[in-house]
Amino acid sequence: MYPDRNAVTVIAEKKKNAPKLYIVCEGQIGEHDLAGRQSIGRKSKKGMPDIDVDSLIVSRNHGTFITTDYGTFYQDAGSSNGTMFHGNLLKKEDIVPLEDGDILRIHASEAKDTSMDVTMVYSTGYPADYEWKKTELHEDIAEIVIGRSEGISLFDTSVSRKHASVFHSRYGWALIDHDSLNGVFLNGKRLKQPVYLNRNDVISISGYLFFFLEDSLLYTASKTIPEEVPSSKGDVSASHENLSIWIEERNVWHRMKKKTLLKDIHMEIPSGQMVLILGGSGAGKTTFMNAVMGYEKADGSVKYNGIDIYEEYERMKYLIGYVPQQDLLRMSDSVYDTLFNSAQMRLPSDYTKEQLEKEVIRTMDLFGLKRESESLVGKLSGGQRKRLSIAVEYIGNPSLFFLDEPDSGLDGTMARSLMENLRMIADEGKIVMVISHSPDRAFELFDQVIVLAKGKDDTGHLVFYGSPEEACRFFETDQLEKIVKRINRIDEGGEGLADQYISAFERRCRNG
Ligand SMILES: Nc1ncnc2c1ncn2[C@@H]1O[C@H](COP(=O)(O)OP(=O)(O)OP(=O)(O)O)[C@@H](O)[C@H]1O
Ligand SMILES: [Mg+2]
Repeated sequence: MYPDRNAVTVIAEKKKNAPKLYIVCEGQIGEHDLAGRQSIGRKSKKGMPDIDVDSLIVSRNHGTFITTDYGTFYQDAGSSNGTMFHGNLLKKEDIVPLEDGDILRIHASEAKDTSMDVTMVYSTGYPADYEWKKTELHEDIAEIVIGRSEGISLFDTSVSRKHASVFHSRYGWALIDHDSLNGVFLNGKRLKQPVYLNRNDVISISGYLFFFLEDSLLYTASKTIPEEVPSSKGDVSASHENLSIWIEERNVWHRMKKKTLLKDIHMEIPSGQMVLILGGSGAGKTTFMNAVMGYEKADGSVKYNGIDIYEEYERMKYLIGYVPQQDLLRMSDSVYDTLFNSAQMRLPSDYTKEQLEKEVIRTMDLFGLKRESESLVGKLSGGQRKRLSIAVEYIGNPSLFFLDEPDSGLDGTMARSLMENLRMIADEGKIVMVISHSPDRAFELFDQVIVLAKGKDDTGHLVFYGSPEEACRFFETDQLEKIVKRINRIDEGGEGLADQYISAFERRCRNG
């Protein structure tokens, strides 16, 4: 379920450059542009290969790279030590196509250690501007952080602020992914848990390469610090850590007639915020949520940290947690089994049983479900069941968490404590969006309020986006719940002021 290769390709597609070959041999890096037919080998009196590798384990005529319009291919020339590719020793006749990030290795067949090995990486997804750097690794360095603004800084929006670390641990150097958006790849595979590093391991982060050489780390780093990406947590950097919503229209077709459910909804929501969605029945709250999640796409775009959720839905859907209006739980399972199954489905497939259990217990703790661990779902109270529905999604560690009326049917205290849980989740740096008809009991927990209303055109419009306090001022009320009364139609028991407020909000946005 975690798309290893896909994630690499997505990034690579964005930066598809002329192919390069990086060769690490005895701690030195060599870089070659690949084009046409190029031989690789060790230079001798008899001749000079196109790509010269100064190592005794490399044959004089070791192999050939063939680059065409269709990509690059490699063929071993029947060398004495051969060429390793994806764990196989290539035979003389084998021609293999190369993909971005592929690794070729030459290892002396007799040798026990790997210090002589030659490591080659084929790359088309390298950054536009980089230089090679080397950092010595000694034990008094506890940790080297790699990120957009920390430690080894890679000034690239596809790199998370604190992306990964190489750290010293009991049995040597290890690598960890700090829950980064685009992942860390070790020897071409997406890292799912911390691992110990071996000499000549190749780490790739958004096309930036790192060679682990046991006593040093050799890597590509950003050459210039672009002005628009500050090195510390600044305004611009923060603006990338957000959800940017640009919905032009969301239409449905019925009997050849177009019906517009939503129109012109634009906003940016920074990470770490808990957002309330408010509006009368039928205003389009659920429709809006579905459009933001990419579940039912609208005309427009929705981007999370600069990545388009609509275009890259297959990858982005793993970052989304959704608790619908109706529960989807199996009544005959216990609370524990329900959560364990969800953890198994949503967490990386190589999690051990112990790791999954730990996550289940932590989640039960957070949602106050520990005492119900063995209870059957069918026997839970409404509030417990709702908390379980949320826990089932939460356990997958979503970055974007959408909840459609999670507090409906709960008493005041229960609803309040549930909203406090959601606040805590937002404080972990996630975005939490909640539809609720009774938000006042959690008023101060929300950062922003989105108000939707149906205009006279029978379409859902944005009537307000801002803080709860501003919302009350704008609608001249002292309670969020009264906002809905202002905009509901008169035949719904409201004051029928939707269109007036839609225009007032448009004016307010125009005037900044
Ligand atoms: N697929 C669809 N085809 C036609 N109309 C639809 C479709 N989906 C939603 N609608 C209409 O869009 C409007 C908004 O529906 P939505 O479910 O988003 O409302 P809501 O704000 O979530 O309401 P509630 O508070 O009752 O849940 C309604 O008038 C609904 O009938
Ligand atoms: Mg709804």
